Amino acid sequence: MPLDLLSRLKNESAACHTRLENALDLMRDDLDRDEYIALLERFYGYVAPWEAAVAACMPASLGNFFDARRKAQLLAADLAALTGETQRSACVPHADSHDDLPRMRNIGDAFGSMYVMEGSTLGGRFIAPHVAERLDLAPGRGNAYFDGYGARTGSMWNAFRETATASVPEHQYDDAVKAAIATFESLHAWLCPDSADVRLLQPAAGAV
Ligand code: HEM
Repeated sequence: MPLDLLSRLKNESAACHTRLENALDLMRDDLDRDEYIALLERFYGYVAPWEAAVAACMPASLGNFFDARRKAQLLAADLAALTGETQRSACVPHADSHDDLPRMRNIGDAFGSMYVMEGSTLGGRFIAPHVAERLDLAPGRGNAYFDGYGARTGSMWNAFRETATASVPEHQYDDAVKAAIATFESLHAWLCPDSADVRLLQPAAGAV
């Protein structure tokens, strides 16, 4: 019996998750405000073009499903709250859709990549309160991105799992897994270039 899509995504990207979680090290006690702002700027620079790339790959019937999961605006609001500059996110460099983002050719790619961003809301349940406590933030003022869906996190995750399973045909499971790994690796390279494993980012000789 072949493994279901979500089990494959979890198992086959687990090592990437651990590497990124360790490199970000967001749960440390000496996290400082400037460092956190710089990290949110990098997240914004990835998430904004990534959302445009995924939206372009989604069928119209899933437009509302995807729009309800957009998070770039939360990052922009966090940056405005933390810096007092309402347009702070407008000055942030964006990841290049060809060089810095995973390829998005079919719905398997789109859901595999989305798995990474939706899954990050689960870790966010630990990160958001930690950041608020360390940086003395008022509720929702600076940690809205990590707080993601707030009390709806569990139900949004279950709905994502169901829609992913219903939407990705079995012959695209490999594409979805590759896209999830490529998303973790490209995000890692964008957020923490010093600790990214560059060998993993370079296509093998002869690969297309
Ligand atoms: C310091 C940073 C992070 C911590 C502490 C963390 C922690 C966690 C934890 C505890 C879970 C499991 C939650 C649960 O089952 O209720 C989880 C799941 C997940 N996280 Fe993270 N995470 C971090 C960063 C990230 C980032 C940056 C991403 C990707 C952008 C990410 C992607 C995921 C995914 C995809 C899952 C779902 C795994 C699955 O059940 O299939 N995490 N994380």
